[in-house]
Amino acid sequence: MLKEYNPYLEYKKGELYLEGVSLKALAEELGTPLYVYSGSYIRDRIKAYKQAFPQALICYAVKANFNPHIIALAKEEGAGADIVSGGELYASLKAGIEPSKIVYAGVGKTVKELEYAISSEILMFNVESLMELEVLNDIAGRLGKKARIAIRVNPDVDPKTHPYISTGMKKSKFGVDIKTAKQEYEYTRTLKNLQVVGIHCHIGSQILDVSPYIEATQKVVELYHQLVEAGFDIEYLDLGGGLGIKYKLEQANPEPEDLAKAILPNLRGVQAKLILEPGRSIVGNAGILLTQVQFLKDKGHKHFVIVDAGMNDLVRPAMYEAYHHIVPVVDEGRDFIKVDVVGPICETGDFLALDRELPRVERGEYLAVLSAGAYGFAMSSHYNVRPRACEVLVEKGSYRVIRERESYQYIFMEG
Ligand code: LLP
Repeated sequence: MLKEYNPYLEYKKGELYLEGVSLKALAEELGTPLYVYSGSYIRDRIKAYKQAFPQALICYAVKANFNPHIIALAKEEGAGADIVSGGELYASLKAGIEPSKIVYAGVGKTVKELEYAISSEILMFNVESLMELEVLNDIAGRLGKKARIAIRVNPDVDPKTHPYISTGMKKSKFGVDIKTAKQEYEYTRTLKNLQVVGIHCHIGSQILDVSPYIEATQKVVELYHQLVEAGFDIEYLDLGGGLGIKYKLEQANPEPEDLAKAILPNLRGVQAKLILEPGRSIVGNAGILLTQVQFLKDKGHKHFVIVDAGMNDLVRPAMYEAYHHIVPVVDEGRDFIKVDVVGPICETGDFLALDRELPRVERGEYLAVLSAGAYGFAMSSHYNVRPRACEVLVEKGSYRVIRERESYQYIFMEG
């Protein structure tokens, strides 16, 4: 059953293993909270994208998990990077991603970030406003370079996902509507340091039904033909990321192949190269968060399992009421009880699961929080002066620490 999340995750004699590595042994050796990622899973996911979209450039969305060792795995499988900050550019270059495979979106790029990215000669800026076009043009001119751009269009489709992670609707801060985009493309003719090379769109995240992609693709392709007609050389069509993953066992999730079936027929007659920016669907189910039960507490009918991972380690349940499946690392076939799994932070919203049927766990034992590879560590913080977790990469029976657990001294930048 767990294999539906990740084929490398399995119980052997009642003990949980990821790619042949005992999670209990890892937790005992490295402590908790501990993020553990499966390298083979990440490689398989990129291969699945490449198989489904043989002609496309797959730019891994670094925001999902920015550990340079994870980005390096994506690079080894031929991926580029989709970035949203100077920091993500730094992480991607550090991981060895070629600048010619980096695309840069984001509504609030600073002068410093734009300078850094222009100097690095990235593939394409996904520009989100008219003012950004002008500023980018000025900076490129000052640096004596030409910046390659796409305009991020907002096709106004409903991705039917959580409102906080839908980005392609009219009311969202991202991109510009198609009509405005056409005017802005025309306007770029006056901006001599910009070179129009593409169209960008990203409609949202954790999308479980591929039909919004069809609608978005059709709108973008229509714009493509109009721009080509108007004499623009559109080399890239960047359709963003957003493919959803399995968080709940009973929930079906689309595969890259399903996305290909939805998108590719709409791209017939399009000469431009396709770019995709998947994040969650590459790393989400590669990762689990290990945590240790600290205390059990009963308040009448309410039972609490208090663990050592909090919302500072994994904020998704608190922020989006997201569901993450939780299983004991050692499963002894116990009876089940309804509990809230909560963290140590002084916030009522600090929970990993509410009203969840779990085996009767004991103080000191380890739990595995699944589907934590994307937007897990990447969104973690120091809230309550909690050092951020250690990260481990397992591959084919062996493991390596890819980020040490932080110390108090590190948090306060003491030496
Ligand atoms: N491209 C752009 C321009 C994006 O804004 C995003 C995600 C992606 C690609 C990658 O989307 P993915 O394939 O991972 O769905 N923190 C939220 C998710 C926020 C997504 C932000 N943008 C969460 O934990 O659910």
